[in-house]
Amino acid sequence: MDNWDKKIKKRIVLFIVWTAVTAWSAFWLYDYSISNIGFSPSQPVQFSHKAHIEKYGMKCIFCHYNAEKNEFSNIPSTHACMTCHVALRNESDLIKPLNLSQDRDSTLVWKRLYRLPDFVHFSHKAHLRVGIDCSSCHGSVELTDSLSQIRRLTMKQCLACHREPEKYIMPARDVSGIFVYPSKNKNKLVRVSDKAVSEPQFGKFKKQARESFHGIDMPCALTRGPENCSACHY
Ligand code: HEC
Ligand code: HEC
Ligand code: HEC
Ligand code: HEC
Ligand code: HEC
Repeated sequence: MDNWDKKIKKRIVLFIVWTAVTAWSAFWLYDYSISNIGFSPSQPVQFSHKAHIEKYGMKCIFCHYNAEKNEFSNIPSTHACMTCHVALRNESDLIKPLNLSQDRDSTLVWKRLYRLPDFVHFSHKAHLRVGIDCSSCHGSVELTDSLSQIRRLTMKQCLACHREPEKYIMPARDVSGIFVYPSKNKNKLVRVSDKAVSEPQFGKFKKQARESFHGIDMPCALTRGPENCSACHY
């Protein structure tokens, strides 16, 4: 009888351990699969951010010029790539898809990495106008040959920064090329200097009332991000 009891007890313990381990791994797998971290789809052209930025010093804004003015950041068009590649490395196999796209007047279909659900509102402009660097959200893009998603786009992550921006914000850097300092000469855009900005820019700028240069809003003082539901969900 005693032996029988022990056997049952052992089985029950084993069953509980087994269920816990399975549930935990299932949850982990599920969580990981929806996190998208490391997502790196194959693209129509093997485009390397590193090759373009590291040696030739191109700024993010040079290609993603809409980020500063709009909600959405653009991916450059074939035409934008061809301003250089019509003459540069044009014979290369890697440039072939670009040539084809140009000749056929067709659009290259880049696969998206960062994508929020449709019910969430996000604005690049609003974040860039307070001097938040791209790397705060996208990581060190300039060091990678093939891009992958480095961060979850969860509500928790958005709110973590909105509550304590000083913990998460990387201040604007030269490589982004975003316009951060209002210049004394009112007709000039001043972009970040080569000097790395290392301290948070709280209170550096006054909030400017709808002033803009060439469609780009003036930089303004960094405040906390909103936490009310309607800021992100209509
Ligand atoms: C301002 C000029 C310029 C623009 C605009 C530009 N590139 Fe380049 N690209 C270069 C230079 C310079 C290199 C050579 C980099 C190296 O290997 O040193 C290069 C290299 C490449 C290569 C590798 C070619 C090879 O044979 O190794 C590919 C692919 C490429 N670019 C794709 C693109 C795409 C796609 C775009 C548009 C999104 C683009 N480039 C826009 C200047 C440019
Ligand atoms: C020469 C043009 C060029 C420059 C300069 C450039 N990019 Fe890109 N970027 C692209 C192209 C083309 C793609 C689409 C292909 C890909 O995902 O690799 C892209 C994709 C991206 C994406 C992924 C978008 C998505 O969700 O699918 C991010 C994020 C990004 N770039 C950030 C940056 C940052 C940050 C910088 C500056 C450090 C930068 N880029 C500089 C051309 C450029
Ligand atoms: C505060 C965080 C944050 C900052 C700062 C930021 N991005 Fe993004 N980026 C996002 C999010 C979130 C998305 C997905 C947006 C969506 O799906 O609507 C995104 C999407 C993109 C895309 C894909 C196209 C699009 O707009 O959906 C590109 C390209 C991109 N970002 C480039 C940049 C560049 C270049 C910079 C700096 C000049 C930058 N981002 C700064 C969070 C950020
Ligand atoms: C790295 C920090 C950071 C991250 C990450 C971040 N935000 Fe923000 N966000 C801010 C700050 C700071 C502001 C306040 C800007 C100001 O003072 O105007 C802000 C403002 C906003 C606003 C108000 C914009 C306006 O027009 O006034 C919205 C909406 C918003 N964020 C949505 C999001 C969403 C959605 C995400 C996640 C995908 C996100 N943010 C991630 C720092 C962040
Ligand atoms: C800073 C921007 C931001 C604010 C403020 C915000 N949300 Fe969200 N919310 C998001 C993002 C981004 C997602 C999508 C990613 C995710 O599911 O985590 C989301 C997703 C959701 C979802 C869907 C969850 C799911 O699993 O599909 C609900 C419900 C939601 N939010 C409710 C709220 C409510 C209620 C509030 C106010 C208390 C609120 N949100 C405030 C950014 C925000």
